[in-house]
Amino acid sequence: MEGIGKAYLDYNATTPLDPLVIGVITESLKCEWGNPSSAHSLGKLASDRIGRSREQVAAMINAHANDIVFMSGGTEANIVALQSGLNSITKPNSKECNIVLPHVITSNVEHDSVKNYLSVQQDCGKIDLSFAQVDKASGQLRPESVLSLVNNRTCLISVMHANNETGVLMPIMEIGQALKALNVSRSQNNLPKIYFHTDSAQSLGKVKVDVKQLEVDYLTIVGHKFYGPRIGALFVKDLLTQTPLVPLLQGGGQERGFRSGTENTPMIAGLGQAAELVVQNLDKYMEHMTRCRNALISNLKDQIHDIRINFVVDPRLPNTVSLQVPQNVTAQKVLENCNGKIFASLGAACHSNSQKPSSILMASGLSPEEAGRTIRISIGRTTPDSEIEFAVKVLTEACKRA
Ligand SMILES: Cc1ncc(COP(=O)(O)O)c(C=O)c1O
Repeated sequence: MEGIGKAYLDYNATTPLDPLVIGVITESLKCEWGNPSSAHSLGKLASDRIGRSREQVAAMINAHANDIVFMSGGTEANIVALQSGLNSITKPNSKECNIVLPHVITSNVEHDSVKNYLSVQQDCGKIDLSFAQVDKASGQLRPESVLSLVNNRTCLISVMHANNETGVLMPIMEIGQALKALNVSRSQNNLPKIYFHTDSAQSLGKVKVDVKQLEVDYLTIVGHKFYGPRIGALFVKDLLTQTPLVPLLQGGGQERGFRSGTENTPMIAGLGQAAELVVQNLDKYMEHMTRCRNALISNLKDQIHDIRINFVVDPRLPNTVSLQVPQNVTAQKVLENCNGKIFASLGAACHSNSQKPSSILMASGLSPEEAGRTIRISIGRTTPDSEIEFAVKVLTEACKRA
């Protein structure tokens, strides 16, 4: 984009479609438009395509294809995972039904689709909700901060894999392994199983995601964050035998009854292709984003005094830079001074109309004033070096003028 005097650095908000994904979607729109439930050959063509995509998406996270259910996106996948985990304890005749109030644990930096759904359940008196706090200063979550909140009524834990604003990776594997051991002893003591969900919207296509290593029961997949279409999927461990899935949509019984509504074959085809690209190229993507990020940080530091890079911790996403501009300047002003040449954001895209400093950044240790001086820059897998150089030049001038 720098060739036309612009740099897109907002890949955590959304990514463009990869050209190969566009190709597969286009082909599918033309040839696989039959209803996947139809018994004739056009239906079979579409349902075969969906089966192939399911395998591609499963391969991206080292899962079994049977454990993938296609959905409209990350918000739906998060809500279905949460309501399913909760249902395990509230359904009539379940052995845990004597539990008066199910207890759920989440972190204080989750995406709104998790935070707001759980907060509403709490406000309705349906659950008791605890928030594990990330460490102020680092934005990191210690496994003990989550595990120490577990009690005899806990039935569900939801912690995101990577934070969309800070880029900090959360200790999902450590929590998952601890829960696996804990669930063995809970079962012996007739206590409810604790289901574990992670929202992987921001980590797929940026770091390795392996559901077996992470030891999760549910994992949210969002296509438009890894150069795929604007749909998603939910991984449910041993879906048919072990982990409950409560459908949000009832109807014709598509997706084996777990998500009714005629399948969006072309977009599902695109999601499969996007997943396959991640399988083939993840190391290359990671290497490229890390190099661009490091170049951006060192060039910005050379050019602008008094800037700070927040949340430089290990592990973190290779593509996200939380840039704190110098004192007496606001991030809003700096972005305005870029005159539309830099596409970056002050925080999550869904909060772009808010005048308030980001609650995620404040929960992660920044003061309101520091949060108001923070720009989120997120790099893509194909961002050219020249676009990084262009962004440094424009941001430097914008800070000086501000
Ligand atoms: C961490 C995280 N979870 C969930 C979502 C929701 O995805 P969607 O808006 O596609 O439903 C997003 C999107 O910004 C996200 O960043």
